[in-house]
Amino acid sequence: MIKGDVVLIGCGFVADLYMRSFQTFPGIRILGAYDHAPARLQRFCDYWDLPRFASLSDCLAALPQGGVALNLTNPSAHFVVNKAILDAGHHCYSEKPLALEMTEAKVLYDLAQARGLMLSSAPCSVLGEAAQTLAQAVRDKVAGPVRLIYAELDDGFIPQAPLEDWKSESGAPWPFEDEFQVGCTLEHAGYYLSWLIAMFGTVRRVVAASAEVLPDKRGVADTAPDFSVATLFFEAGPVVRLTCSIAAPHDHQIRVVGDKGVLVVKQAWHNGAAVRFHRRFRLRRRLIDSPLGRRQRLREVTPPKVGRRGAASMNFALGVAEMLAALVDDRGCRLSNEFALHLNEVTLAIQNAGETSGACTMTSRCPPMATVGWPA
Ligand SMILES: NC(=O)c1ccc[n+]([C@@H]2O[C@H](COP(=O)([O-])OP(=O)(O)OC[C@H]3O[C@@H](n4cnc5c(N)ncnc54)[C@H](O)[C@@H]3O)[C@@H](O)[C@H]2O)c1
Repeated sequence: MIKGDVVLIGCGFVADLYMRSFQTFPGIRILGAYDHAPARLQRFCDYWDLPRFASLSDCLAALPQGGVALNLTNPSAHFVVNKAILDAGHHCYSEKPLALEMTEAKVLYDLAQARGLMLSSAPCSVLGEAAQTLAQAVRDKVAGPVRLIYAELDDGFIPQAPLEDWKSESGAPWPFEDEFQVGCTLEHAGYYLSWLIAMFGTVRRVVAASAEVLPDKRGVADTAPDFSVATLFFEAGPVVRLTCSIAAPHDHQIRVVGDKGVLVVKQAWHNGAAVRFHRRFRLRRRLIDSPLGRRQRLREVTPPKVGRRGAASMNFALGVAEMLAALVDDRGCRLSNEFALHLNEVTLAIQNAGETSGACTMTSRCPPMATVGWPA
């Protein structure tokens, strides 16, 4: 059983999803939580029956060495809070993005390296069953050598959704103002970028564009791009088209095109989503990708699932569990410091592309993710 201690900073919408997810890891103890909004802190801690800390420093002081501090604050606070965690000598798991500027991300990375600490960043769905099954199928060359990948993270026309009704389990509203100001690329590109970097390693070059296609998003000021498209050139070969938007119809599929056919996953946010292989064949004068895909199965132990629907069907605790397991096993963490830095650099390159500055060579590097099985 994976064991360890965790403190939680930021008790908003996503914190409830983490708390539900931690129930799949009974050996992980949540020692308490901190939020700079006292009412939110109280409501969250009352709901989950958790101790409350009066300050960030109290919270970090309560965490024993070898524990993990979990940063679930808004993206604008990520750098400051992540730095405080590392300065206090703790391993840090940050919600995405690691930092809003690459210079800040580099400061965090250098600090973690210098102090021998783990710095991991969400999303952790890359450790889930669907991503691991897809990676296994790619390694096994089920579709032959991979030539091209299309990955879509289109969420539908989000500003017209009944956003005021979206509440977390303990009553936190979905923070749509912050989401529109941070933008869907920083919020969501990582869901497939993490899978892709895990499979193929370093992105050598990004050629991207980003734009605001919705002029008014519920009257929110200072909003970020709500659409982006990127072509990613991986050092190891394949070329990827990655799309993010909160305007185009909902589509979260990834299609991995090889010489023998196509591997397809239709849902990015469902850890148990099916991975299917659609074999390509000739039928008289036609070329067909089989409409009936053959389901791929993971050979290793399946990571625990939360058994809920939509975004809530991701197990948000997999990343922290992986860090604690890596500590106990004295091995490198699959969500490595290099992984977090590279993910951040590629994501920022796409977000900041605009109409003119979208072609850039990446400075950070990251090997493909090691294939470590989940503990039975
Ligand atoms: N909302 C989602 O569906 C979702 C899903 C996955 C990941 N995330 C990520 O989770 C993070 C948090 O998102 P959220 O939706 O929970 O936001 P939220 O606004 O609901 O909650 C953030 C909480 O952090 C607190 N906070 C902010 N700065 C702080 C600081 N300096 N010190 C202490 N507390 C601070 C706020 O008071 C708030 O309660 C973001 O990085 C987001 O990208 C959100």
